[in-house]
Amino acid sequence: MIIDGLEISAAIRAECAAAAAAHLAAVGTPPGLAVILVGENPASVSYVTAKERACKETGIRSFALRLPADVPQSRLLAEIRRLNGDRAVHGILVQLPLPKHIDESEVIRAIAPEKDVDGFHPVSLGKLLLGEDTFVSCTPAGILEMLKRSGVETAGRHVVVVGRSNIVGKPVANLLLQKRANATVTVCHTGTPDLGRFTRQADILVVAAGRPGTVTADMVKPGAVVIDVGVNRVPDASKKSGFRLVGDVDFDGVAAVASRITPVPGGVGPMTIAMLLSNTVKSARQAAGL
Ligand code: GUN
Repeated sequence: MIIDGLEISAAIRAECAAAAAAHLAAVGTPPGLAVILVGENPASVSYVTAKERACKETGIRSFALRLPADVPQSRLLAEIRRLNGDRAVHGILVQLPLPKHIDESEVIRAIAPEKDVDGFHPVSLGKLLLGEDTFVSCTPAGILEMLKRSGVETAGRHVVVVGRSNIVGKPVANLLLQKRANATVTVCHTGTPDLGRFTRQADILVVAAGRPGTVTADMVKPGAVVIDVGVNRVPDASKKSGFRLVGDVDFDGVAAVASRITPVPGGVGPMTIAMLLSNTVKSARQAAGL
């Protein structure tokens, strides 16, 4: 019933740890990931901390770079260029969103495509569109891996994606329509009138809208598989942090209709980090010619 992202991601992390140890034994240095955080957005701080901890647990060396919210764009670009040339660094990740005075697209373009473990560079996204081997952004890759490892067939199924972001909606839709996944894909977004008319046709529903309550039970076909990508902080006075995490899907209602569903937290989130580790190990292997 529940697709357990923690359990599946733990298996992937163990595979990455074995691959990182093998890399260290073969090359003499571990895979390395540079994680850049600009400013102190609380959600970003928590993601970056989790990513760095995951690296350490996997035997990947992490290079943390914290820059103040008012850092000039030229300084950020200079740091990226330095990391592009650092042979100990196999992956470069700039946590998004960036402060308003910084041109996100220019920053992403500055990352060497062979170190773009986040898969956000136009070269990576272009290769994804063409079906060529590349770094696939971590959340979309995690969603496909999660479906595969929980035995959910995508070939011949109708997948409806809600959301068209560059980070999730667009890449996951493109992955699913590749021959390898062979799904029929519909993409809905904020401009889609009567969203339920489309979501009710989904065999597999991927919801990445960024808004709690986007999908309710009446919008889901009985027996559908529901992947909830949303991570929303809602105020909750009973929690020490003052908030709790909810997805984009009304979990209790939809769980009664769906055949399988991912929880929030403990669903797609841990998969994203596992795929980041996997991409970093892959980059290190490629750099070493393994
Ligand atoms: N912000 C939200 N998701 C992501 C992600 O996967 N990578 C980065 N770098 N920033 C994000």
